[in-house]
Amino acid sequence: MELRGMRPAVGSQRKLYIETYGCQMNTGDSEIVLSIMQADGFVFTDEIAQADIIFVNTCSVRDNAEQRIWGRLNEFKRHKKQKPGLIVGVLGCMAERLKESLMEKQGLVDIVAGPDSYRSLPDLVRSASDGMRGINVQLSKEETYAEISPVRLDKNGVSAFIAIMRGCNNMCSYCVVPYTRGRERSRDPQTIYNEAKGLFERGYREVTLLGQNVNSYAWEPDGTGFAELLDMVAGIDPALRVRFATSHPKDLSDKVLQVMSARENICRSIHLPAQSGSSRMLEVMNRRYTREWYLGRIAAIKKYLPDCSVTTDLIAGFCTETEEDHLQTLSLMEQVGYDFAFMFKYSERPGTKASRSMADDVPEEVKTRRLIQIIELQNRLSLESNRRDVGRTFEVLVEGTSKRSPQQLFGRTSRNKVVVFDRGDHKPGDYLTVEITGCSGATLYGSVI
Ligand code: 5AD
Ligand code: SF4
Repeated sequence: MELRGMRPAVGSQRKLYIETYGCQMNTGDSEIVLSIMQADGFVFTDEIAQADIIFVNTCSVRDNAEQRIWGRLNEFKRHKKQKPGLIVGVLGCMAERLKESLMEKQGLVDIVAGPDSYRSLPDLVRSASDGMRGINVQLSKEETYAEISPVRLDKNGVSAFIAIMRGCNNMCSYCVVPYTRGRERSRDPQTIYNEAKGLFERGYREVTLLGQNVNSYAWEPDGTGFAELLDMVAGIDPALRVRFATSHPKDLSDKVLQVMSARENICRSIHLPAQSGSSRMLEVMNRRYTREWYLGRIAAIKKYLPDCSVTTDLIAGFCTETEEDHLQTLSLMEQVGYDFAFMFKYSERPGTKASRSMADDVPEEVKTRRLIQIIELQNRLSLESNRRDVGRTFEVLVEGTSKRSPQQLFGRTSRNKVVVFDRGDHKPGDYLTVEITGCSGATLYGSVI
């Protein structure tokens, strides 16, 4: 007789390999998946050739993200030929968006699991091992994986991501996320605090609190909002740096900025996606703020945190965008003087408001030209921002060895800029005072003092 609870660990040491695409939320999700699988007896491998199970945690935000993943899935066919019985699972946003249709191509995908169904993965793997391909794309109003302690996949042991909420209620007209990640829900603040404290005690020195829209974090049972949560986590220890992403401009409150200004260990860096500099486009995008409102938020940031860096996301060529709208984006960039930006060409996503009711009417070559202009301007702004730092000194948290040379380390300033400097006898996790002696558009170079 088999007794429940006395079952041998069913994963029985079968090896799991995970590949992650898309945003930081997805990185965090892969760590949750690994934790769920390990609790069931599976073991992690970072060598694909060793794997009995391959999971791909996917992203649907733009078509080119999905195309890349299809390419990868085709490559896995080779591994499947070499190792009959190898299981391939598609997780995350693409799983949620494409559902059963991911299984249409015979022999490519055995498991499809959406972002709220990771607890069922061990069962899905077992069924797949018995020859039954499995799918679970049920979205949930409650799932936050609150009590699951993620298995850290980061290499440095210094900085970690903590998901504080899931889903998104914003319904920006271009965006697939509300459909792939479901309704917004916040995680119990005590579990977030405990996770951050546990990380600090294990030597981590930086946590990034993650959500699609962290400023709308709300834990109803005790009324904890994002400002209170930030204050709680930052109170763990002054040597623990706290970052967060992403902020929606319509919800970034003065209260959050005040908490930041009162706590030096909350990093002086705000990612505030503008998407466009034209109020007309913002309306078409359903962003629910205007250019003026956005600039008002930038003014508030500068008032409370004069030395704070501001970064953004921008989309070129969204439906109906005119040359005048585009020029407004360029002028917003100049006016704010972004330190860094993620810049994209609009990519129509099936199922979104835009795909249902708006024509993707900006010609491809116009989108490309506008994106290039945006990128060129940002390259100049990033270089100017870095040049302003030359000659100044910053506290840098060391993260690891520089990609360019084993003799050099890299770390970040509170403003989230990467600094490269000589190794000396320093190590990841150290806080150093570094004088900036030079820069490129992407990196600061300095010497430890
Ligand atoms: N096309 C291009 N970029 C998009 N983004 C989201 N949806 C799309 C889309 N359909 C961008 C936004 C968002 C970032 C994560 O991706 O700038 O902030
Ligand atoms: Fe990609 Fe958005 Fe899903 Fe993150 S939430 S994986 S960016 S589609």
